[in-house]
Amino acid sequence: MLRGGIPEGTTTLVSGATGTGKTLLALSWLMQGCREGQAGLLFSLEENAGRLLENARHFGWDLEPFMEWGLLQLNHQSPVELDLDRLLHTIRAKMTERVKRVVIDSISTFALAMAGKESHVDYLWNLVRFFKASGASLLLTGEAREPFSFPQDSSSVLFSLADNIICLQHRVENLINKCAIAVLKMRGSDHAKEWREFVIGGTGPAVPVAGD
Ligand SMILES: Nc1ncnc2c1ncn2[C@@H]1O[C@H](COP(=O)(O)OP(=O)(O)O)[C@@H](O)[C@H]1O
Ligand SMILES: [Mg+2]
Repeated sequence: MLRGGIPEGTTTLVSGATGTGKTLLALSWLMQGCREGQAGLLFSLEENAGRLLENARHFGWDLEPFMEWGLLQLNHQSPVELDLDRLLHTIRAKMTERVKRVVIDSISTFALAMAGKESHVDYLWNLVRFFKASGASLLLTGEAREPFSFPQDSSSVLFSLADNIICLQHRVENLINKCAIAVLKMRGSDHAKEWREFVIGGTGPAVPVAGD
């Protein structure tokens, strides 16, 4: 669908309702990077590392060896105590030459943590600019009610700041809940334009790639 995957050094927003597979997609992207020798960092403002590892294990994804080899680091911060300046500081401190993929899951609590501080726009702009300069790819997830709406509690500026936007959506068909994915934009790529259904099954989210 992405015609060769997410281009290196770009910023991607994965937007979708709860349970549509944002965290799993982010984990699978990090895992793919690790298999190619690219170190990854995940900053989770939702599930803790133990929970993420457990979910991954459910799909047969063994992330622990990557963590032991120093290729993957799962960091958890409670959204209740979220301090965005400290988060940026921690991200900067953990960035090394080897780190090529970074995930923040999710940015939906940013607005609350932002209250009374510098604007959303400035913060997100600084974050994106930092990653552009580092050469690493950044993937942000955000909770959205509608497929093309902005992630809740987040700034619409991200829709223009992001190089790539992937939308995830629930679909009900014959009383069965399915998920669908679309690439809304991918700068410099002739990406697939249609929505594709997928199921989150035995080995994780499986998207039909026929025609790619
Ligand atoms: N350990 C698991 N066992 C079974 N299904 C799971 C498990 N983890 C996730 N899923 C399925 O994957 C869906 C998406 O998970 P997740 O990536 O956490 O969604 P999001 O981050 O968008 O809220 C869940 O709603 C569930 O259906
Ligand atoms: Mg999630």
